[in-house]
Amino acid sequence: MVNSVKTFLKQVGKDYQNQSVNPPVVRASTIIFKTLQDIKKTQSNYKKNPLSKNFDYGRKGTSTTFALQELLRKIENAYQVYLTPTGFGAVFLGVISVVRPGDEIIITDSVYSPTRFLTEDYLKKFNIKAVFYDPKNLDDLKKKITNKTKLIFVENPGSNTFEFQDLKKILSFAKNKNIYTAIDNTWGTPYLIKPLDLGFDMSIVSATKYYSGHSDVMGGSLAIKKRLFKEVELSQKAVGLRLSPDDAYLIMRGLRTLDIRLDKHQENTIKVANFLSKQKKVKEVFYPIKKNIKQYKMWKKYYSGSSGLMGVKIISKNKNSVIKFLNKLKLFAHGYSWGGFESLALYQDKLALGNRSYTKLSNNEHIIRLHIGLEDPNDLIADIKQAIKSIR
Ligand SMILES: Cc1ncc(COP(=O)(O)O)c(C=O)c1O
Repeated sequence: MVNSVKTFLKQVGKDYQNQSVNPPVVRASTIIFKTLQDIKKTQSNYKKNPLSKNFDYGRKGTSTTFALQELLRKIENAYQVYLTPTGFGAVFLGVISVVRPGDEIIITDSVYSPTRFLTEDYLKKFNIKAVFYDPKNLDDLKKKITNKTKLIFVENPGSNTFEFQDLKKILSFAKNKNIYTAIDNTWGTPYLIKPLDLGFDMSIVSATKYYSGHSDVMGGSLAIKKRLFKEVELSQKAVGLRLSPDDAYLIMRGLRTLDIRLDKHQENTIKVANFLSKQKKVKEVFYPIKKNIKQYKMWKKYYSGSSGLMGVKIISKNKNSVIKFLNKLKLFAHGYSWGGFESLALYQDKLALGNRSYTKLSNNEHIIRLHIGLEDPNDLIADIKQAIKSIR
């Protein structure tokens, strides 16, 4: 990329042919051709260059989805990017492309809980075994590698407890063995870290979050290195996942301001995290603000900034008073997902944390997840201040 990503996101996709700044929404199931030879030509172009516009049927995309694919291919420095109807669809596509019966996958213990369900429960039916490692102890990961390990799946930072890991160390474990590496990079996006440049084979982002940025669309992207192209291309063909052109358009529109929104999410979240870290009932803030801790060093080593999702560990013998605190917040709605312009809060009970092995919580410890939006941070802090008094 010649220009910085900030310039690229504003300039990309201009359509002089249609005289529009943005590529138009092209909706199509049937893709039409003037002659039968034209269909054959498209198909033979694909055989010669598999990255060409391979549309002979709507499931393979239209010029709108192609424009988004191209944009993401560039910011991820990827060989190819696959667009999926949800972020979880991208997790599924990435995982099933590489594992086979008898294989083992090693996964971050604090992984997004549906990813845990996919690998630990669902894939068991296909004789694929999932093994979870402690994200705070990478020697644990190293010990779990066997000659059956096919994939190391990292989520960085982990969901809800936000552990930042030494990514190069993880990659060094996979090197020179027949082990693929994948990362769920939804928290950072390629604006803050480029996993494929570090050496990961796959980088997964839920476009539902910061790419779209407006809490009104779902999508996902799986960016891959060339060595996985054949496998993922085959799986994509077999499962038929497709992002609709309307959703692709909205995601591309969101991406225009990804940099500006993420910079502001970071600024606001640092303020809120600093405020929270001084509160009596707060035992720990899961956000990279404390320079003396290992987590901060790992974040600093790999990321150019931070986003708006954080965790807070609250100490209270009275769970109801923690729930009351959350219910008293006026500017934070309660709901799943994150990455939009607005603030959100959730109480993360055992179900939301998933069936973890390494997150130990005593009865008086509670984890809440906050997404800090683009509101005035002073208003958010004032809101938390009036509500946090409820905790006993
Ligand atoms: C870290 C992470 N990865 C993947 C996903 C799945 O994305 P989607 O909701 O678009 O399926 C989520 C959703 O919350 C997430 O938090």
